[in-house]
Amino acid sequence: MKDIFFNRKQIHQQQTRIEEDLNLEGCQPTTFPHTLSRRTSPSLQWLILLLIIFTSAISIFIHGKKISYFFRPIWDNPPRPFTRIPHFYAENVSMDHLCRLHGWSLRSEPRRVFDAILFSNELDILEIRWRELNPYVYRFIIVESNTTFTGIPKPLFFSDNRQRFAFAGSKIVYSMYPGQVGSNLNPFDLESGQRVAVNTLFQNAGVSTGDLLIMSDTDEVPSPHTVRLLQWCDGLPPTMHLELKHYMYSFEFPVDFSSWRATAHIVQPETHYRHSRQSDLLLADAGWHCSFCLRHIKDIVFKMTAYSHADRVRKANFLNHSRIQRIICNGDDLFDMLPEEYSFQELIKKMGSIPRSTSAVHLPSALIQDADRFRFLLPGGCFRELG
Ligand SMILES: *[C@@H]1O[C@H](CO)[C@@H](O)[C@H](O)[C@H]1NC(C)=O
Ligand SMILES: *[C@@H]1O[C@H](CO)[C@@H](O)[C@H](O)[C@H]1NC(C)=O
Ligand SMILES: *[C@@H]1O[C@H](CO)[C@@H](O)[C@H](O)[C@H]1NC(C)=O
Repeated sequence: MKDIFFNRKQIHQQQTRIEEDLNLEGCQPTTFPHTLSRRTSPSLQWLILLLIIFTSAISIFIHGKKISYFFRPIWDNPPRPFTRIPHFYAENVSMDHLCRLHGWSLRSEPRRVFDAILFSNELDILEIRWRELNPYVYRFIIVESNTTFTGIPKPLFFSDNRQRFAFAGSKIVYSMYPGQVGSNLNPFDLESGQRVAVNTLFQNAGVSTGDLLIMSDTDEVPSPHTVRLLQWCDGLPPTMHLELKHYMYSFEFPVDFSSWRATAHIVQPETHYRHSRQSDLLLADAGWHCSFCLRHIKDIVFKMTAYSHADRVRKANFLNHSRIQRIICNGDDLFDMLPEEYSFQELIKKMGSIPRSTSAVHLPSALIQDADRFRFLLPGGCFRELG
């Protein structure tokens, strides 16, 4: 932001200088040698004007995204507000009691649970997710593509590391989505192509009416007690969004509760895979969303160039490894962007680094059980592996 203000100030100074020039000319027309002032001043003015236009154009070009984000509260409307469903949970409280606290009732047997995700390269978060949900899930549906959303060929990270997920065994229903290669493809089209592929997988996996189906990105992890609640209670709404606690880089940097895209469905004949707004209902505090929670710096570089907002990589040095390491340990923004907020109050509150947390309580249990292997996701572990 400093740059913008500096530029504005510069522009203002230059403008006043021009005004002074004009005044000078107007006030003292006779004392100056006419010919000289006529010949130099107008061309000088034009030069200055051109300079101003040029520097403004350059600064808008460089900082355009930032300027427009700063003024988002003016040009953008917040999404339609959600109706939050209060969420009750404590250890060792009976399921019957929990269902009734939500206004629901206990089922005689649990629903079958299907967990459907699009996978890119988040191997560690995938392991944590599946270990967390394994006791409750009937089928893990996973789709990965051999290209990125931005049209670059990519290794099949899941397929290449499948032995790591042997613990989930025959529950895994996997499909490779053949992507398109090219630079002028629309990332959001490729993304929606993959989402269509997930729908076909639903049928192969045996998803049927009345089952519980969770749809989310790999890094949007519902908590186990949330899944248990939804599989054991009757009377819940057919489609709910899940409000997840949003973390950046690791569980050391909690951002807010802004994550809402994950959904839980009681399957109806018309249920389809989507990753957008599908309901006004949002179940409070239902899990974790850990963005850029990747082990190696090179994984982070890959994600920065591969995902749908790759246009945010505006400068080559954004991908510099030492810059990324520094940003992770500070809790700063990888794309040097402002927070996406819809009011100036929220925007200003969230500007600057994410405050560091020292709590590793109420996190996925695999993280704590294997704290050594997952040190990079825990408080105090911001240093990433090289290579
Ligand atoms: C959990 O509840 C059971 C009885 O339902 C009780 O025996 C047990 O001690 C409780 N455990 C904890 C940790 O409170
Ligand atoms: C992706 O897979 C499809 C089907 O196997 C193949 O035809 C295509 O060449 C692959 N693309 C890349 C970039 O590997
Ligand atoms: C990355 O940035 C650091 C300074 O922050 C610089 O010393 C280093 O040469 C850069 N690396 C590359 C590959 O540009």
